[in-house]
Amino acid sequence: AVSMAVNLGGVRMKNPLNTASGTYGFGNQFEGFYDVSCLGAITCKGCSAVPWEGNPAPRLAEVPSGMMNSVGLANPGIAALAHEGAAYLSELRSRGTQVICQVIGHSIEEYVRAVELYEEFAPFASALELNISCPNVSAGGAAMGSTPRSAAEAMRAVRPHTRRPVIVKMAPHDVAEIGRALEDAGADALSLINTIPAMAIDVHTRRSRLARPTAGLSGPCVHPIAVRMVWEASRAVSIPLCGIGGVASGEDAAEFILAGATAVSVGTANLYDPTCAPRILDELREWAASQGVRDINELVGAFEC
Ligand code: DOR
Repeated sequence: AVSMAVNLGGVRMKNPLNTASGTYGFGNQFEGFYDVSCLGAITCKGCSAVPWEGNPAPRLAEVPSGMMNSVGLANPGIAALAHEGAAYLSELRSRGTQVICQVIGHSIEEYVRAVELYEEFAPFASALELNISCPNVSAGGAAMGSTPRSAAEAMRAVRPHTRRPVIVKMAPHDVAEIGRALEDAGADALSLINTIPAMAIDVHTRRSRLARPTAGLSGPCVHPIAVRMVWEASRAVSIPLCGIGGVASGEDAAEFILAGATAVSVGTANLYDPTCAPRILDELREWAASQGVRDINELVGAFEC
C-alpha cells in the first residue's frame, strides 16, 4: 500500500484529507455518517473571541454553478467551542486525526485575542488556521488578506501568541505575492482558496437571492480556479499548501496534489453528500497506487508542464 502520511507545516496527518472550515461544523455531526477518524485532519468552523450572530437569513443559495453563502462568520465563540467540543475533539485527536481550529476577528486585536483564547481553552487544537479571506465581512477578515502588507501584518501580530502551527486561509487572488509575504511573516502553511466574491440576483423581485447583496461562491465551479491558485502559490513559496475548492472526488484531490498541495480539504461536497469524504479518500488512495509510487509525497507538485 502507498504511504499516505503527510506533514502540513508541522501538522502530521495520517493522510492528506482535511475538511474545509464552515462546511464541517465541529466534526461530531459527521460521526453518524462514518468514522471521522479516517481523515487526516478536520478544520472546525471559525470562531471569534466572542459569539457572532452573522448575517441575516437567507444566507445560503444553490445556483447551477455551485453554492453561494453570506453566513458572515456566525459562531458561538471560542469559550463555547472549548466547552462543548473539548470532549469530542480531544477524543478525535487520540484517534489520530488532527484538529485545526480557525481564528477569526474584525481587527488585529480581535485576531490576537482569539489566538490567546484558543491557547488558554483549546488544548485539543493541533494548529490554528488564520482566516483573513472571508468575502462576507467588510472589515478585518476579508480586508486583511487582500494585500501582501496587510496579510503579513495580521500574521506577524499573531505569531508571538502561539507555538502551534499557523496556517493562513487565502483569498483567490495574488496568491504568489501574498503567499510570499505570509511565509516571510512566519506562516507555517497556506490553505487556499476561500470562496470567490459573487452575486445572485432574483430577476423577478430584482433583489439578491440572499439577504445580503453579495456572497461567496463555492463548489465544483471553483475547482479549476483553485487548482491554478495552488499551482501559482506552490511556485512562489516553500511552505506547504492545503488545496481547497470544489473537491468531490479522488481525482479532484489528486489534481491539487499534482499542482503542489500537500493536503486537500473537502468543503461544499460535505453539504451535498455528508458521506463523501471517506469515498474521496479511498479514490485518492487508488489513484496514488495507480501512479506506482510508494509514498504520496512523491506526487506532491509532480505536475509536468
Ligand atoms: O465563504 C465564506 N463564508 N468564507 C469565509 O471565510 C467565511 C464564511 C462566512 O461565514 O461568511
